[in-house]
Amino acid sequence: MMLFESHKYLRNHIENQLDASKSIGFVPTMGALHDGHIALMDRALSDNDFLIVSIFVNPTQFNNPEDLDKYPRILEQDLELMKSRLDSDRFLVYAPTVEDVYGHNTASKTYNFDGLENVMEGEKRPGHFNGVGTVLQFLFKVVQPDNAYFGEKDFQQLQIIKKLVTSLNLDIKIIGCPIHREKSGLAMSSRNARLSRDGLEKAAQIYQILQKAKTSFKTHTVPETLNFVTDQIKSVSEFTLEYFTIADENSLQTATEKNPSYTYRGFIVVHLEGVRLIDNILLD
Ligand code: PAJ
Repeated sequence: MMLFESHKYLRNHIENQLDASKSIGFVPTMGALHDGHIALMDRALSDNDFLIVSIFVNPTQFNNPEDLDKYPRILEQDLELMKSRLDSDRFLVYAPTVEDVYGHNTASKTYNFDGLENVMEGEKRPGHFNGVGTVLQFLFKVVQPDNAYFGEKDFQQLQIIKKLVTSLNLDIKIIGCPIHREKSGLAMSSRNARLSRDGLEKAAQIYQILQKAKTSFKTHTVPETLNFVTDQIKSVSEFTLEYFTIADENSLQTATEKNPSYTYRGFIVVHLEGVRLIDNILLD
């Protein structure tokens, strides 16, 4: 398995060592890999001739310095996991330094994502999607993949990346992949590693509540379902609800009542043991 730290060497390798007629699938990550990431890589390997994975904790997308500081960085373990779990050696890893990506100016560009960036994660984490856009614009230019794979766990991010690629006129297909869950139903996340055993058990209730919300939404109004979820989350004393929003999955605009031409999703963020947990569910 080849490991690159420099985008110049990586670009040179792609141009001179990879067959230009073969397809490249790309999976960008921030490392601390888990089965959700591996599922994206498996999908990319089955769709493409070659897989490129990036592992980079992108500082500009963290609005909270403590979260950036605490983000696990375990490159050796990540590489071992990929070697043992991927059923192919048709892949390479790009794990750059901050300087290789940003030079001496670790700052974001400013994007207009047609309002997708102003709700939910964009509202709660100012600057977050400018950081995501900046790093992906850079990574897409270096890797120039045919297909790039993203998880529906970060559904708003997925929609924003589709918008980024269209507005930059890039010839890259963005493919959304289902949320990978623990047996308990908890959405897999690199941040779960910071939960205690008890916390992991409690956190599983988030998905149980989302599933009940899906059932509730069939026969109840938007405000009734919002109240139902708020009450359920409040009944677990260790949970702090940051938001639960029902929104149209394409525009991400908040719903107040049901419109049959929209497809609704419930989006939730809960804090537990100082860890920010994010999840979502298709409601109809
Ligand atoms: P990261 O959180 O490492 O996630 C990398 C990719 O894995 C994202 O597309 C994310 O949605 C997906 N993913 C994470 N957990 C998942 C799960 N349980 N099921 C399915 N997919 C899952 O998202 C980022 O990194 C960064 O913002 C990045 C896109 C790399 C830009 O820095």
